[in-house]
Amino acid sequence: MLNKRSVEDLQVKGKRVLVRCDFNVPIQNGEITDINRIVAALPTIKKLIADGGKVILCSHLGKPKEPSPQFTLDPVAKKLSELLEKEVVFAKDDEVVGANAKAAIGSMKEGSVVLLENTRFRKEESKNIDSFSEDLASIADVYVNDAFGSSHRAHCSTVGVTKFVEISAVGYLMQKEIEYLGNAVNNPVRPFVAILGGSKVSDKINVINNLLDKVDTLIIGGGMAYTFFKALGHEVGKSLLEEDKVPYAIEMMDKAKAKGVNFLIPVDTVITTEIKNDAPFETVSIDSIKADWMGVDIGEKTRELYKDALKGAKTVVWNGPMGVFELENFAKGTFEIAKTLADLDATTIIGGGDSAAAVNILGFGDKMSHISTGGGASLEFLEGKDLPGVEAVNDK
Ligand code: 3PG
Repeated sequence: MLNKRSVEDLQVKGKRVLVRCDFNVPIQNGEITDINRIVAALPTIKKLIADGGKVILCSHLGKPKEPSPQFTLDPVAKKLSELLEKEVVFAKDDEVVGANAKAAIGSMKEGSVVLLENTRFRKEESKNIDSFSEDLASIADVYVNDAFGSSHRAHCSTVGVTKFVEISAVGYLMQKEIEYLGNAVNNPVRPFVAILGGSKVSDKINVINNLLDKVDTLIIGGGMAYTFFKALGHEVGKSLLEEDKVPYAIEMMDKAKAKGVNFLIPVDTVITTEIKNDAPFETVSIDSIKADWMGVDIGEKTRELYKDALKGAKTVVWNGPMGVFELENFAKGTFEIAKTLADLDATTIIGGGDSAAAVNILGFGDKMSHISTGGGASLEFLEGKDLPGVEAVNDK
């Protein structure tokens, strides 16, 4: 159980409640193309509205170097209004907590909602400099952090502000994320299988190392598998390879053996000449990758091997696709893993980022126990790190 004060423990009637959400959503031509993070924030917002709080929402969006219309949160305010079926006032203000925002907050009533402008419009935000934390605190009686996806960042709006607001709590989304991921990693119903994919070994080094102490089986796929092939002495053609991580790959395979963890890497792979749907492709065993070709998916024998390894699993954590799932010819590995998880009688947790997108695009989203809204945050959690945005909140 998370030992942090939660929204359930607060009295917010008539109070200004600053809620940090993660509304860092993809936007194309002013249209939000994936609303999952916004939908995931609704339970906390609705609870605070129902309890008569004055709900002031804030978030970052992208990585703007300065205030810019490209990174405004205005589209998010519109989407929130639609989803909440009530007006969400957008406090357009390059200072984030400048005159416009203060005026909007000054005229709030119980149960009303204001969304502040992108917190990264303030240079201090990413450096966690007190001046902006104090500005944020000046408009809040209570602070709630529900931004799991940003909880690995020690910024003003996730950490600094808690120094200046006496009462802080975590929201429902934060609680749910930590409970799912925390139970899976620290208290799993066994057998516990982790599936790690994605392009780079270097992104997953600490995850592999930490999970080898916890899991019964660890399955490797995606671009990072080729560094493991190299570690086994095979040539990988033009596949993704991190030559400098080969010793690490060897070390991890040795660690797995010493710990008795079933460590699975692909036995065959789909190779192609180009990452294009009309490029030639074929499946070869991992010792037969052609010199000018590259690996883009796990092969059929590997799919079967991985499906077998997942049979009977009771807890599964999956982070990172098995191949270039965006292209139909190279999506089979990711699809089969998603389908296998969907049919399992197990707690299935998708660790955010690309794997969350893959599961949703392939149509299995509603079949998983939990799809994390955190990319980097869920990875750091799986690495066993404390999340500063969670640590900063008052204990129960
Ligand atoms: C994410 O999308 O993973 C979070 O919103 C954090 O974004 P950041 O990497 O820009 O801090």
